Amino acid sequence: MAKFTQEEIDKINSNLKTPEDALRWAFDNLHDKVAKASSFGAEDAVITDMMIKLNPKARFFTLDTGRLNQETYDVMDRASKKYNIHFEVMFPDTEEVQQMVRTKGINLFYESVENRKLCCEIRKVKPLNKILSTLDGWITGLRHDQNENRQKASMVEIDKMHGGILKINPLIDWTWEQTLSYVKEHKLPYNKLLDMGYTSIGCEPCTRAIKPGEDLRAGRWWWENDTHKECGLHMDHSKAT
Ligand code: ADX
Ligand code: SF4
Repeated sequence: MAKFTQEEIDKINSNLKTPEDALRWAFDNLHDKVAKASSFGAEDAVITDMMIKLNPKARFFTLDTGRLNQETYDVMDRASKKYNIHFEVMFPDTEEVQQMVRTKGINLFYESVENRKLCCEIRKVKPLNKILSTLDGWITGLRHDQNENRQKASMVEIDKMHGGILKINPLIDWTWEQTLSYVKEHKLPYNKLLDMGYTSIGCEPCTRAIKPGEDLRAGRWWWENDTHKECGLHMDHSKAT
């Protein structure tokens, strides 16, 4: 793939008005070397629907940490059947998981931030790195209002954490309400955890429903105090230059 300069990316972004514009641009320029990363949240449901309408051959993958909710597997199954999609399921390395569990325990993430980051690294970050090393771009469900860090993300960006491939965030400037409305209006298959107040979908032991008035990502690693919580899949824009 030809590498883009930041100036070129800025120009591309200024011409993209809608999520579909971003997806069309990705298909036209990255062809079959771009794939959607899905955690089966509301954003993923919307983007999946848009992608299939534009390109029935679009590619999708998910990182199965081994600790997902049954509701997440159920919606994966429903979406596969509705759209005739094959979700490429990326699993963590068995030896690494065994070694981690042997030395730190099965619920290590509750004991320290360091343990939690280790688990995310082995179960999510490394499998993500593996699939991204085969792609020229990936499509995510990031939105500005998910957290402070994500407010600095753009629709198309150079992903410096992943060898400079492109990262396409079609819903970057959508609100949570817009996202939910699309899911309902188009009667999309959605994760039943949404009905239970889960506004962000992660692993079962590390995610809870949010309470009224709480931040959309308050349910993720709820026992940690940091308001800037990321698991390592997405770059820290405060450090991006
Ligand atoms: S995370 O980094 O905190 O886990 P978040 O749950 O907000 O991310 O999801 C944002 C986007 O990251 C999703 O829309 C999806 O594109 C990608 N993503 C997150 N978790 C996964 C996963 N398990 N598998 C594939 N993609 C994921
Ligand atoms: Fe492990 Fe929790 Fe991270 Fe999932 S979210 S990979 S269970 S620490």
